[in-house]
Amino acid sequence: DGDVYKYYHDGEWKKSSSGKTVAIVNPTTRKTQYKVQACTQEEVNKVMESAKSAQKAWAKTPLWKRAELLHKAAAILKEHKAPIAECLIKEIAKPAKDSVTEVVRSGDLVSYTAEEGVRILGEGKFLVSDSFPGNERTKYCLTSKIPLGVVLAIPPFNYPVNLAVSKIGPALIAGNSLVLKPPTQGAVSCLHMVHCFHLAGFPKGLINCVTGKGSEIGDFLTMHPGANCISFTGGDTGISISKKAAMIPLQMELGGKDACIVLEDADLDLVAANIIKGGFSYSGQRCTAIKVVLVMESVADSLVEKVKAKVAKLRVGPPEDDCDITPVVTESSANFIEGLVMDAKEKGATFCQKYKREGNLIWPVLLDNVRPDMRIAWEEPFGPILPVIRINSVEEGIHHCNASNFGLQGCVFTKDINKAVLISDAMETGTVQINSAPARGPDHFPFQGLKDSGIGSQGITNSINMMTKVKTTVINLP
Ligand code: G3H
Repeated sequence: DGDVYKYYHDGEWKKSSSGKTVAIVNPTTRKTQYKVQACTQEEVNKVMESAKSAQKAWAKTPLWKRAELLHKAAAILKEHKAPIAECLIKEIAKPAKDSVTEVVRSGDLVSYTAEEGVRILGEGKFLVSDSFPGNERTKYCLTSKIPLGVVLAIPPFNYPVNLAVSKIGPALIAGNSLVLKPPTQGAVSCLHMVHCFHLAGFPKGLINCVTGKGSEIGDFLTMHPGANCISFTGGDTGISISKKAAMIPLQMELGGKDACIVLEDADLDLVAANIIKGGFSYSGQRCTAIKVVLVMESVADSLVEKVKAKVAKLRVGPPEDDCDITPVVTESSANFIEGLVMDAKEKGATFCQKYKREGNLIWPVLLDNVRPDMRIAWEEPFGPILPVIRINSVEEGIHHCNASNFGLQGCVFTKDINKAVLISDAMETGTVQINSAPARGPDHFPFQGLKDSGIGSQGITNSINMMTKVKTTVINLP
């Protein structure tokens, strides 16, 4: 009943002394696919210690050597794309092609991070004192960027490989060491990715990966005095982490309710195509998925018809067959989504398709005429359910968008670029896409959420900078 995987500490694969494992249930078969070690707090302590001592030597390793190892890891990762994609299919039911894309994108991200790192970390600043009133030119200030220490990386289930390397790459190039805590669904994909870094030959203890129950080691990790930075992507657990964490830099990405505002002059075919891609890819289980459509009443019928026709063409089924809509990650997630659907039904939303569910597989549904009293107007389903709210003015759309506690991304469709820019300025989100669906990539773009969507800015360059601190040396002339 499932292969058992070891955790990674000090360059070795180990069994937990707990003797316990955590089961990973395949979302499609709903049977145990894999098992991972249920690590103990004592094991977390040891991992933290190893990471701390390995970091000291790593910080002194020349930057070009660090980059070289990252390039090597990136190449190995790409070579392993097929077996890792297989894990993604089995653990998180990501469609086959998207699973391969996730691994390739991750390899590219690591290589780009290595290149970006040697450039931005290879430069410092030089300041002179006499630009500030009252000073002579007697002080020369040299600045450089130094590592934080041990970075704790916690990626989510929906991109267990890509959102792990988006933390690992920047941490390592900047001279930090790493403790990775994978999500339960996605843990084996993560372990396989770590194996690629192992094969690349990084020093022992520099990268460590502990698996286990959040209830046992979650708070223990995030409140651990050995952690010098936390980079977390996931749900509102991030809010409690940020309340409990010590005085260390935090990078948090905690979901969104990305709005798609559609104006009267929009190219409706383009909008419909983007709603399908933005709302339903990976069955809506993306923080950047379109989660509410706010369309001007005058074009709403026409848009809904177009989207409806495209929803009918979505292939629903197992990820192995590369279906568009695949089972959602867990039964509890499916139950939560169903709760939102039932609430909308009771309150009178128009169902453009019949609601259907088999196990964790939920057929895609577009809900028209959604009103603000329905939960789906505000909550993040993380499933293939997309609400449409009809609006009578652009202001109404902006108001709905800004009334959300989330503020990750949003998009606006119009041919009028001036209007689009003004709307972008008015939307309280970290990013606004004009005439395209929200998305994090390309991975060197800044990526950030306002309000409950997060802390800090990601993207390769921002993450490297965030995982360093500034060190200055001042030369005082006689
Ligand atoms: O789920 C959150 C991810 O950061 C979204 O990434 O826009 O590439 O799907 P994506």
